[in-house]
Amino acid sequence: MKVIINEKTILDQLVSKKIIDLVKSKPNANLGLATGSTPLGVYQNLVNDYQSNNTDYSQVKTFNLDEYLNLPLDHQQSYHTYMNKQLFDHLNINLENTHFPLENNYLNYPTLLKENPLDLQLLGIGSNGHIGFNEPGTAFNSTTNIVKLASETRNDNARFFSKLSDVPTEAISMGLKDIMMAKEIILMANGKNKAAAIYQLVKGLKSEEWPATILQDHPNVTLYLDFDAASLL
Ligand code: PGA
Repeated sequence: MKVIINEKTILDQLVSKKIIDLVKSKPNANLGLATGSTPLGVYQNLVNDYQSNNTDYSQVKTFNLDEYLNLPLDHQQSYHTYMNKQLFDHLNINLENTHFPLENNYLNYPTLLKENPLDLQLLGIGSNGHIGFNEPGTAFNSTTNIVKLASETRNDNARFFSKLSDVPTEAISMGLKDIMMAKEIILMANGKNKAAAIYQLVKGLKSEEWPATILQDHPNVTLYLDFDAASLL
């Protein structure tokens, strides 16, 4: 596992450059995408690059990690809305090439991922060590499924909703086994509240109590950490 520690704006530049270079060298690249506050700077950089350089996304396929359950897809806080607003609306991506695990397709999502191997999976990490919405206790061999959100996750995400009780209790998440099929994984983390999870990922024992530790077994993972997230290493 490679570890890069720098300021957030530099990390955003490095990661967006990697994605842009991949899309230029492989115009039909398959990208695994994440939501949350962590990748916002990367998406902004991709949009800026598209506006200046017309990088072509017309053949790119995207596969998001997760989506809330029981939240309309056009809800302000759905991950569909997030991806449209932050990225898809601003690129020449074909919306038919963008995929989310949903109630009506999640059982087929692992097959879809096998048919379209991800060239790059972008990940954030929860303060409790989740990746996607695979919460502590999730089996390492889990595949895409309906999952219950941990109370820590609901508290972390309450900032996006008017009140805690509005945060959905369930989601659909790409499984840990599915995530591990990606050819390359980039995990970004910033802020002190991620430091314990990052410590476990880098220095801890592999354990289903810290789902991200499964990445210790992946041959091509790079962590992009700001100084706060790396502060316990
Ligand atoms: P965040 O969420 O980017 O909003 O911190 C990351 C995650 O929960 O995986």
